[in-house]
Amino acid sequence: MPRVLLLHQTSLGKKAIVAVTGVVMFGFLTGHMLGNLQVFRGPEALNHYAALLKATAPLLWGTRIVVLTSVIAHIYFSMMLAAQSGDARPTPYAKRENNTANLASMSMRLSGPTLGLFIVYHLLHLTLGFSPTGVHSETDVYANVMSSFSIWWLAAIYIVAQLMLGLHLFHGAWSFFQTLGLNHPRYNALRRYFAAGITLLIVGGNILIPSVILSGYRTQAQLDAETPAAPADDAPVEARNIVVE
Ligand code: HEM
Repeated sequence: MPRVLLLHQTSLGKKAIVAVTGVVMFGFLTGHMLGNLQVFRGPEALNHYAALLKATAPLLWGTRIVVLTSVIAHIYFSMMLAAQSGDARPTPYAKRENNTANLASMSMRLSGPTLGLFIVYHLLHLTLGFSPTGVHSETDVYANVMSSFSIWWLAAIYIVAQLMLGLHLFHGAWSFFQTLGLNHPRYNALRRYFAAGITLLIVGGNILIPSVILSGYRTQAQLDAETPAAPADDAPVEARNIVVE
């Protein structure tokens, strides 16, 4: 009886799964970065955004399930593809050429596991609250973020992880088009610009958060939230006499 190969058993099927799950994560990362940038609009904006996500159970759990499944499938099938390409060449190259393809796959093998470690650390730190700052509140996500990135080494962990993310996203976006069969010298420059653009957007936005907070700079919205409001004109005289330093 002829053996029927299922999609995930073929090399092309595995590549398609890696590509689709990669796109899902690109979508999550764009939304996550835009949401986190709310920190510069002050505590109310960031905490409101976080509360909205948590209050909508189907949204929260739907996103968690889709992202988790995508991460697991992405890791599993890319490891299978890497093992397959190793099997296909049982005898190593006499002289390993350091060509572009080798550099790309080397960078994926370095950035992939580093990102895996970062995600575990990140969830322990900002979701589960094992924070070295000792500050963690389910509702005050603003305080969690601000207190964390005021510590230089914690900000540095995040910045280095984002550089790894950048390496991974750039090569991921580049190979995505290859999987789609869009590999023509005429479009290669366009592919490179697209991969670099989307990577810069996500990584740039993410790096802005720890670096600006660490620098001590505060936007007007943040300063307004930190300064106690002046008493209204019709407030009792005793309240109006309070000197705000
Ligand atoms: C500087 C960059 C980042 C910042 C400031 C940041 C911030 C946060 C914060 C504050 C939370 C907790 C949200 C809450 O309690 O409501 C969170 C959760 C999370 N982050 Fe990030 N994040 C960053 C980068 C990333 C990256 C690069 C990834 C993935 C590669 C990621 C994946 C996640 C996931 C999966 C969650 C859990 C969401 C959930 O509760 O279901 N984050 N992040």
